[in-house]
Amino acid sequence: MEQNIILIGFMGSGKTTNGRRLARKLNMDFIDTDSLIEEKNKISIEEIFKRYGEKYFRKLENETILSLSNCKNKVISTGGGIILNNRNIDILKENGIVILLESSVDNICNNLKNSYKKRPLIQKKNWKEDVRILMKERKEIYENSADIIVNVDGKKHNQIVNEICCIIKERA
Ligand code: S3P
Repeated sequence: MEQNIILIGFMGSGKTTNGRRLARKLNMDFIDTDSLIEEKNKISIEEIFKRYGEKYFRKLENETILSLSNCKNKVISTGGGIILNNRNIDILKENGIVILLESSVDNICNNLKNSYKKRPLIQKKNWKEDVRILMKERKEIYENSADIIVNVDGKKHNQIVNEICCIIKERA
């Protein structure tokens, strides 16, 4: 396998957890774009938003994707907003297959209930409403950005990972 496997999807859809497991199973390296940004800038995503705002974060996000344009044979988990710049998706697609982990708002809210405060875009008291609004704005962009859509609702991690492995094998 030369191609990268790129996971996209809303916050809390399981990109990082499933990406890590997938990489282990396929014996590939794992990269998480949010972690790369944090390591490179020595500051948390939350702090970047607080100090410099979303626009600046999106610039760092795009630079990170550009820096990955030559990498191969990696599983790459992306931040939920990666699809907001279609250049990001174009770059990622040059060397890889883009898989959307699609999830319902209820499932997302359940997954985020202990960690929503760390997500700058949904930190408010009515965070579930923020999730609903953001999902409505983005759903179509996620779907249009994906080569493959995997629904993750009600599925265990190993089921999701196995499903992705089957899809990848079929395409090889
Ligand atoms: C964002 C998602 C986050 C992180 C940032 C913005 C978004 O990543 O990149 O808070 O715009 O959806 P996760 O999807 O890993 O939570």
